[in-house]
Amino acid sequence: MTTVAVAGGTGGVGKTLVETLEQQSKFRVVVLSRNKQTKEKPATDTSYVQIDYNDIPALTRQLELYKIHTIISAIGLISEETSNSQMNLIEAAENSKVTERFIPSEYSFIQTADLLPIDPSIQFWLDAANRLKGSSLKYTRVIPGFFMDYWGMPHVKTNLQPYRFGIDISSRIAAIPGDGNDVICMTYTYDMAQYMIKALDLDEWPEFSVVVGDQITYNQILAIVENILGGKFQVTYDSVDQIAVGNVTNPPMPSDVDYSQEEITEVTALVSRLTVNGVFELPKENRLNDKFPDIQPITMKKLLEDSWGGANIHLK
Ligand SMILES: NC(=O)c1ccc[n+]([C@@H]2O[C@H](COP(=O)([O-])OP(=O)(O)OC[C@H]3O[C@@H](n4cnc5c(N)ncnc54)[C@H](OP(=O)(O)O)[C@@H]3O)[C@@H](O)[C@H]2O)c1
Repeated sequence: MTTVAVAGGTGGVGKTLVETLEQQSKFRVVVLSRNKQTKEKPATDTSYVQIDYNDIPALTRQLELYKIHTIISAIGLISEETSNSQMNLIEAAENSKVTERFIPSEYSFIQTADLLPIDPSIQFWLDAANRLKGSSLKYTRVIPGFFMDYWGMPHVKTNLQPYRFGIDISSRIAAIPGDGNDVICMTYTYDMAQYMIKALDLDEWPEFSVVVGDQITYNQILAIVENILGGKFQVTYDSVDQIAVGNVTNPPMPSDVDYSQEEITEVTALVSRLTVNGVFELPKENRLNDKFPDIQPITMKKLLEDSWGGANIHLK
């Protein structure tokens, strides 16, 4: 049986990947974590392995000990430190005699060097991709666009941290970047996980594996939720010029978001710049949707109806 390790399998995206992997019997699952497992008695066969990302020889030994064939990284790449962890893991994977494949932590839009002036942290993703390109490992960069989960919170089943982008459905207030007509490709995290697990069986991996649950604009989302809830929302549109100078409007945040107003404004400005630059309109090529037509990803309309319309299919 092939063993798949999820690095950062304790986090938002990682937990979803682990839960989805646990529903099949084809792959043995290992979670790589910096911490000891806290659960007393795991309900599944998943092994939790404590690792030190700064000790590459020890990491290599653990990959060999657990016979890890494929690593899916779901490390939260937010800093030099987290990026270094992933780079060390790639190095250990290359040194390991049993590890052949690596999916780096991306799960967003197609990150290219020309976007660095908009988002300098893209360098973390480019460093990992360049390192993998020069390695003997097979790799693919998984691109699902924006995660739909945010617009279904707090009702939708998700492991992502609470946050709001563009529209706060609960208070009926929207703060939309640009004219609201930029196309955004969106995927529900559990659907991305389904596609990724299918893709583990492919003999060849392209540089990018794109997944699109739906393609929609903020204005279309707004129309759907206004229809579901009945009545108009209070809407602000931030112009491209406003966004360029960071003068953006934050939508109301969930009470458990642990960021300062300045940090929230920084995130809004960054995501708004990316949105109006069209990065979330994903290419038609290399879509896992075409390779696995048997998977029917949830549409935004359905996710919104399930979350806000009283239906309970995806409700917690
Ligand atoms: N497209 C979207 O809408 C969207 C939304 C959210 C996230 N993402 C992407 O998905 C990926 C995962 O994000 P996430 O929100 O799931 O991450 P997260 O929950 O913040 O973190 C995931 C895991 O990273 C590990 N980690 C933290 N610091 C680390 C370090 N210094 N070294 C090694 N591991 C460390 C932790 O695992 P341990 O403590 O167990 O080691 C943590 O549970 C990122 O690439 C992110 O950009 C995309």
